[in-house]
Amino acid sequence: MTHTLTESNLIQDPVVQFKHWYGEAKNLNIEMYDAMALATADESGVPSARMVLLKGFDHDGFVFYTNYNSVKAQEMEKNSSVCLLFYWKEIERQVRIWGQIEKVSRQESEAYFKTRPYDSQLGAWASDQSTIIPDRNHLEQRFDELMKKYPEGNVPLPDFWGGYRVTPDAFEFWQGRPSRLHDRIKYIKKGDDWEIVRLAP
Ligand SMILES: Cc1cc2nc3c(=O)[nH]c(=O)nc-3n(C[C@H](O)[C@H](O)[C@H](O)COP(=O)(O)O)c2cc1C
Repeated sequence: MTHTLTESNLIQDPVVQFKHWYGEAKNLNIEMYDAMALATADESGVPSARMVLLKGFDHDGFVFYTNYNSVKAQEMEKNSSVCLLFYWKEIERQVRIWGQIEKVSRQESEAYFKTRPYDSQLGAWASDQSTIIPDRNHLEQRFDELMKKYPEGNVPLPDFWGGYRVTPDAFEFWQGRPSRLHDRIKYIKKGDDWEIVRLAP
């Protein structure tokens, strides 16, 4: 089925447009529909990208969780501009979101952390994310120690772990079409409004 993104079918509010596409990707059971590349840059402008999972979004922003000491966290501390990228191959769609990052509240991180499986909770404690470790055994030993320290149902939220929210200032929706005449619609935040433009593919 050929999908289109035309001025007559697009939604004026980019968050609602995203919700529509995200909902379709989810309903089609697209594998890892919630996975997105997160691009950051260090102080000198050297970029870095990695996958993270989208854990929620609304008009306040797009939320993911990670280690607050990781490379990405250090970069975002210095440079709050980030870019998110989704790709849903089966429906030939790509969405780019540019925005500014901020940490979510501790209460929000606590609430989410409680919903994570036991293994993932311990994993957050076990990994000094992005640091050099001697070997794999180091990680497994640490995990075993943590299992004894924190029984299931009793794992506290690490103070070095939590969520970030990206507040968007631009979106680009890309819809693949035959003959490479793809649709590209960009929304740019202008005060309280969004300017909508079409880009050449
Ligand atoms: C599909 C996928 C989803 C991932 N989701 C997350 C995530 O939600 N949070 C996270 O910290 N790392 C996640 N990772 C691991 C990151 O890609 C990355 O390796 C890690 O966060 C360290 O990145 P950094 O050293 O740039 O900070 C995911 C990896 C993949 C392949």
